[in-house]
Amino acid sequence: MKKILVIGGGAMGSAFTIPCIENNNKVTITEPYSKTFIRDLSSKNKFHSSLKINLSKKLKFKDFSLGLLQEKFDLIVIALSLSGIDFIGEKLKELKIKTPMLVLTKGLKYEKKNNKILTISEQLKKNYKGMNISVLKGPCLAKELARKNQTSVIIANKNIKIAKQIGKQISTSYYLIDFSKDILGVEVCSSIKNIYSMIIGAGQSLNMSSSLFQKSIIEMQYLTKYFKGKESTTLGLAGVGDLYVSAAGGRNSKMGSYLGKGFTFKKAKKKFMPNDTIEGEQLVREIAPFILKKINKKRIPLMIKLINAILKNKKLNI
Ligand SMILES: NC(=O)c1ccc[n+]([C@@H]2O[C@H](COP(=O)([O-])OP(=O)(O)OC[C@H]3O[C@@H](n4cnc5c(N)ncnc54)[C@H](O)[C@@H]3O)[C@@H](O)[C@H]2O)c1
Repeated sequence: MKKILVIGGGAMGSAFTIPCIENNNKVTITEPYSKTFIRDLSSKNKFHSSLKINLSKKLKFKDFSLGLLQEKFDLIVIALSLSGIDFIGEKLKELKIKTPMLVLTKGLKYEKKNNKILTISEQLKKNYKGMNISVLKGPCLAKELARKNQTSVIIANKNIKIAKQIGKQISTSYYLIDFSKDILGVEVCSSIKNIYSMIIGAGQSLNMSSSLFQKSIIEMQYLTKYFKGKESTTLGLAGVGDLYVSAAGGRNSKMGSYLGKGFTFKKAKKKFMPNDTIEGEQLVREIAPFILKKINKKRIPLMIKLINAILKNKKLNI
């Protein structure tokens, strides 16, 4: 039995506690930001308002504090959205924690000062190089995991032994784990799929979406290699695997479908998805300054078209 701390009580952080508890770990969850999730997790029946299920009574909720981060855990899991990464990075900076960490968050950060794109593990390690970080990505809808539908994900760490140790602690008969040494490739693929699922969603027929799917994979391979990941990682769970689930039924592809119908981003957001976070749009705004300056536009025509449509709030023509 291991002691696991999950930071982030949103849909994914909370769903992730389910296989962890089933695997006989002692699991604590904390929520640093959202009053709704704090209320859900600290309530008696632990009804989660976005998963629409009661979480296990064995799940312990503790208020977020620096003291909690310093308690003895075997694994710390970060399940915040991208905007929470700066926040947790700052908190962890002073503590110099050596406990293995597992990052579920998907996304990339643009570092303006050095004109560089950083993955989340690179961003966190910038604060403290000694951090022991693995990442877990792949096609996983939180609601499906919460219902214990079969789910396959991938854990990456240059030291594959650490990845496998973590896998052993958290896998169950329905939560299956692959492993990879290509941490950079896994992080890049799992982020840019949010952009490509918007592009695929813009197809106005299955035929058109299929051809956009094929072209998206070629662009993803190019970008993964550009950012020093392995091209082959694109064909794994963090790449094609995650692209499929996002294109088939996520918020990004839904937004893409409105863009494909001729709405501008702002109009579609206001009219159809006013309360939804569109991760692909956030990522476009984050990485566009780098992509537009540094990358050969001919190699990634679809991404360039989407960036221009969102930044200039113009119709998307693909
Ligand atoms: N690795 C996987 O298998 C997998 C699967 C699905 C989603 N995800 C990723 O997990 C992350 C969370 O997704 P989710 O579905 O739980 O989202 P969510 O919106 O349900 O939860 C977001 C979490 O981030 C926190 N947060 C938001 N803004 C913050 C801020 N400014 N400061 C601090 N905390 C903040 C929220 O309080 C909450 O805990 C996303 O990056 C998503 O892409 C990973």
